[in-house]
Amino acid sequence: MNEIKIFSPATIANISCGFDVLGCCLDSVGDEMVIRKTQEKGLKISKIIGEDLPLDIHKNVAGVAALAFLEKLNKDLDFGFEIEIYKKIKPGSGIGSSAASAAGVVFALNELLNKPFSKLELVEFARKGEELACGQPIADNVAPAIYGGFTLVKDTDPLKIIELPNLDNLYATIIHPLIEIKTADARAILPNKIKLDDAVKQWANVGSLVHALHTQDYNLFASSLTDYIVEPYRSKLIPEFEKVKNNALKEGALGCGISGSGPSIFAFSRGNQIAVNVAGAIKHIYKETNINFNIYISKINSDGLKIIDAK
Ligand code: HSE
Repeated sequence: MNEIKIFSPATIANISCGFDVLGCCLDSVGDEMVIRKTQEKGLKISKIIGEDLPLDIHKNVAGVAALAFLEKLNKDLDFGFEIEIYKKIKPGSGIGSSAASAAGVVFALNELLNKPFSKLELVEFARKGEELACGQPIADNVAPAIYGGFTLVKDTDPLKIIELPNLDNLYATIIHPLIEIKTADARAILPNKIKLDDAVKQWANVGSLVHALHTQDYNLFASSLTDYIVEPYRSKLIPEFEKVKNNALKEGALGCGISGSGPSIFAFSRGNQIAVNVAGAIKHIYKETNINFNIYISKINSDGLKIIDAK
């Protein structure tokens, strides 16, 4: 294989109750990337379409993740690689834009080189890209992009990822108000100390959400989607958050919260039709403001990254 074209999915991190540990993978929202072997040795990003991002491999999350991969491979290859990135996920959207680029490139390199590394190792490389993007090697977006479905970051040192089951008919509606919230800023406003009462409720929710996934229990899943710790702080950064949440829940969503560090808001629904109804019920809220927005509906993607073409 000399060239591979991949779909690199958007992801929802935190899933309300699981700050920095839970994440899930979307299906119809994501970037495309082409990675090909070149006669010239080394690594270069030859093209980025859709966003103004650095081509310098040391300043681009995909470049940094690829370098981590090649450094661990530690082989004197007699060819190099070039990367083309077709960005469809806006940076700073809260649906794992940097994670898609970082996870995509290491997945593609692994395929081109006959899979020398495990998925866990790919997450290790990809989170180097996350470190460049948001100052910390967060894994809760790159893990679901690479594993698909729902994932739990059990530990970061050493890294341990647990693959969780998916609910068989689960859809996400995502609304992305086009304002910028930097992950670093959204982390900086969080408190260093939290109330024990809140922590107790929150870890009960993480446990019950995991159980709900294992038992296909939509009611338990819905009742686990409350964030007592982070959302009260971050929701203030997102105009109309409460209105969006209330309308989504009224329309039958199982739950609604901030996607990653925002500003995107996700709502989960059982079945596509409710997800479509939720989209209809929340988009008019931003239409009544001067804030532009994008809206997406996606099934939860159990497979993660996908190969579109290989030659
Ligand atoms: N868990 C992270 C956060 C996701 O909420 O800050 C951002 O990539």
